[in-house]
Amino acid sequence: MKHLLKLEDWTTEEITEALNLADQLKYEQKHGIEHKILKGKTLGMIFEKASTRTRVSFEVGMTQLGGYPLFLSSNDLQIGRGEPVQDTARVLSRFIDGIMIRTFEQSEVESLAEYGSIPIINGLTDYCHPCQVLADLMTIREHKGKLEGLKMCFIGDGNNMMNSLIVGALRTGMSISVACPEGYEPPKNIIEFGESFEGKFEMVRKPLEAAKGADVVLTDVWASMGQEEEKKIREAAFEGYQVNDELMAVTNDGAMVLHCLPAHRGEEITAEVFEAHADEIFDEAENRLHAQKAVLVKCMGD
Ligand code: CP
Ligand code: NVA
Repeated sequence: MKHLLKLEDWTTEEITEALNLADQLKYEQKHGIEHKILKGKTLGMIFEKASTRTRVSFEVGMTQLGGYPLFLSSNDLQIGRGEPVQDTARVLSRFIDGIMIRTFEQSEVESLAEYGSIPIINGLTDYCHPCQVLADLMTIREHKGKLEGLKMCFIGDGNNMMNSLIVGALRTGMSISVACPEGYEPPKNIIEFGESFEGKFEMVRKPLEAAKGADVVLTDVWASMGQEEEKKIREAAFEGYQVNDELMAVTNDGAMVLHCLPAHRGEEITAEVFEAHADEIFDEAENRLHAQKAVLVKCMGD
């Protein structure tokens, strides 16, 4: 059975196939060609955190594929009152054909896959955000015509976005430099993953060092969902870790800027840089739809 629990689980070939399929589905949708590949199938969408893009892209995507999206807020499910994920997995497997889940612990997503008998798709955990990164790679390829040989840089927190970008960039032949403050590095296994691609991964302290010669610049909020109480401490720790004109000046000509959104202007990115790259950023947001449809077809298609 095919899941998307984290991007590490997908090979370069599987990622490339998903990107190609996303391009094809985007073309078909733009040209009014119907593709009801998941007719009659139901996707349960469990949300334990807020969402705009992930919810809407999966809900609209599932509908366009001829299937039925079922929004399941953890506030209304028994899981929110302590019913074990192992039981939820086994019950939902009797009713529906796939689950997309956004939650805190990566182990919860892994447990759903272990105990359930239907495909599980990770719609963001504290550890990773694979669906977003597939849309990011799709957008880069669309704008640059390739991925192989490009340099990505990520400025900020060693969080879910940084983790999945390191995996996604390296698996598709890009190099990646990340700059994060002390104490906010990605987890050890991700650093080891990066270091296994000799000469392609770099982790530095200075944002300008990471951005030098970059073709694509990414950043993310300083305080992720669930870290609201750390907001003040994080604002101090991330001072200077901002995508601004000074940083963009050391990147390659025509460098792109992407942001998974929501963005905090004046914190991780200036309003000027955000607006100068708004076309790229909103293409990236739109591509959530096409990339998520590709994931749905790969995981839930016959
Ligand atoms: N980028 C992203 O996942 O957005 P949402 O939190 O709105 O789903
Ligand atoms: N790192 C952010 C990403 C939101 C899409 C968070 O987890 O809140």
